[in-house]
Amino acid sequence: MRRMTMPVAQSTGRLDDLFTRILTRNQATDEVAPADLWEKIRHVDKFYFDPEMEIAGGTQLAEKIRELRTNILTLKASKGTKSILLSSCHHGEGKSSASINLAKYMSKNEEYRTLLVDCDLRRPSVKKFLNWEVECGLDDVLNGKASLDEAILYSEQDNLSVLFTRCGHLNGAEMLERPMTSEIVRQLNENFDFIIYDCSPVLSTTDPTILGKLIDGVVMIVKTGVTQRESVEHAINLFGQARVSILGIVLTHLKFYLPRYLVRYNYYQDRYAYYGEERRAAKR
Ligand SMILES: Nc1ncnc2c1ncn2[C@@H]1O[C@H](COP(=O)(O)OP(=O)(O)OP(=O)(O)O)[C@@H](O)[C@H]1O
Ligand SMILES: [Mg+2]
Repeated sequence: MRRMTMPVAQSTGRLDDLFTRILTRNQATDEVAPADLWEKIRHVDKFYFDPEMEIAGGTQLAEKIRELRTNILTLKASKGTKSILLSSCHHGEGKSSASINLAKYMSKNEEYRTLLVDCDLRRPSVKKFLNWEVECGLDDVLNGKASLDEAILYSEQDNLSVLFTRCGHLNGAEMLERPMTSEIVRQLNENFDFIIYDCSPVLSTTDPTILGKLIDGVVMIVKTGVTQRESVEHAINLFGQARVSILGIVLTHLKFYLPRYLVRYNYYQDRYAYYGEERRAAKR
């Protein structure tokens, strides 16, 4: 059977739905049925990740981030949720990408003073993605070398502020365990409407559970088709034991398969021609 793979930009699901699905049916990493999501993805024809992307451009990624934002706004309205930590089981599941995009999208609304905090003290990457000039960061605040005011950077274009981590620290957990951390979180809560914390993976570090206790809840990032269900359950248990509330799950790296009949009946004419030509070229 001929199958075509169409990677999707960034896929996020309804927080409550997906969380329920994981807890009750264990389907966190199952392949997603095309029928469910075909309508949503039909206009997406390529994968890209561009942290500087124009969110207003109406891309599929923007659409998914908008959906995530709506869910978070609902939580804000019903439960007053304003500080959210993004974590995952392992490295490279898409935490920083999702954090940056979510923070950028939140900050498009002038009502919401939004702060993105890079609290992955071991492997900070927000600086690399955003490419701002950073002189001091959260690590300097925790080490008593700078004040919060000095470390928070404000974007001139929108409502986004960022508290970077300047460089990697092997003792990240120890730094976050300092009493100063809760004071920092308190001050950030006072000064911002949304605070998004990009943290490290929960199965290999204790940072997310240490910080998770101080904030409203955690959104778990799960790399579809790679992260094992058992790992997700283990991570959820770790947060549960630490009494950290999990707000939901965001699935990343979803792959969709186009059924043959869609290709045959020209639903994806251009792509079909492209693949046909590629096959012919290979035969030559
Ligand atoms: N939804 C997505 N779909 C496909 N690729 C993605 C997605 N999100 C991120 N990526 C890609 O996956 C890689 C890892 O992303 P990212 O750095 O955001 O992950 P991370 O969980 O923060 O990693 P780390 O644990 O090392 O900090 C990057 O190359 C990024 O471009
Ligand atoms: Mg990261």
